[in-house]
Amino acid sequence: MKRVALVTGGTRGIGAEISRHLHEAGRQVIASYAGNDAAAAEFAATTGIEVMKFDAGDFQQCTDAVAKITAAHGAITILVNNAGITRDGTLSKMTRDMWDAVMDTNLGSCFNLCKLTFDAMRSEKFGRIVNIGSINGQAGQYGQVNYAAAKSGIHGFTKALAQEGARFGITVNAIAPGYVDTDMVRAVPADVLQKIVARIPVGRLGHAEDIARGVVFLTADAADFITGSTLSINGGQHMY
Ligand code: CAA
Repeated sequence: MKRVALVTGGTRGIGAEISRHLHEAGRQVIASYAGNDAAAAEFAATTGIEVMKFDAGDFQQCTDAVAKITAAHGAITILVNNAGITRDGTLSKMTRDMWDAVMDTNLGSCFNLCKLTFDAMRSEKFGRIVNIGSINGQAGQYGQVNYAAAKSGIHGFTKALAQEGARFGITVNAIAPGYVDTDMVRAVPADVLQKIVARIPVGRLGHAEDIARGVVFLTADAADFITGSTLSINGGQHMY
């Protein structure tokens, strides 16, 4: 039977490429999204991958979604916590709402979905969790105290949960992407982005596939000895 994989934020950007790659690797993929119906419909039509609308930062919506997926396909044993947003601004301009939105979506979602899938993974004696962190959670970034804190939290969360999952066959790893050519990065002011790219030794932005290939690697059945690790995929911008 195909293993069931949930990819949050899985219909656009890095998440869409992760969903496609896992689908090609023979997984039963469900790609979740929170808002953009048109992009999700187009993604589903072009890939044949099932999409589901719910807010990964909302515990009740996650509870309902996991129950629905489990009833239709069986236990989710591959979870990719990819959903993420930015609300950039220097601390003096950042509002409490900007802080909360990023913490709920980027970090709260990891708690919600790990909490709701972990027991089933334990019963299956198999689980693969990949949390998408960020170079900016490792190194910090001007104008991103909310995002850097949430992503840094993901890295700590990953190492803690890896210790809990190890004896049940559940691996928990993080990927820390650098600057990848997506809508999120294209929203960075052009002059700022130009300076960032100039600091990437490989000399280009990342491609979403660069990250997706890492997810396929970490979620393979054979990857059972890799847990609690962070795979940096950033063109050499930050060597950690
Ligand atoms: N270090 C030190 N000082 C800096 C600086 C930096 N990196 N960037 C700007 N400054 C200084 C400016 O020179 C300016 O100084 P003066 O007032 O003396 O001229 C001051 O800080 C204010 O700068 P801005 O005018 O740029 O401030 P702003 O409030 O208009 O904008 C910002 C701030 C929104 C953070 C904007 O700079 C920005 O968007 N930066 C990019 C943030 C970024 O990289 N986000 C990543 C998004 S992609 C992502 O997050 C994915 C991932 O995982 C990698």
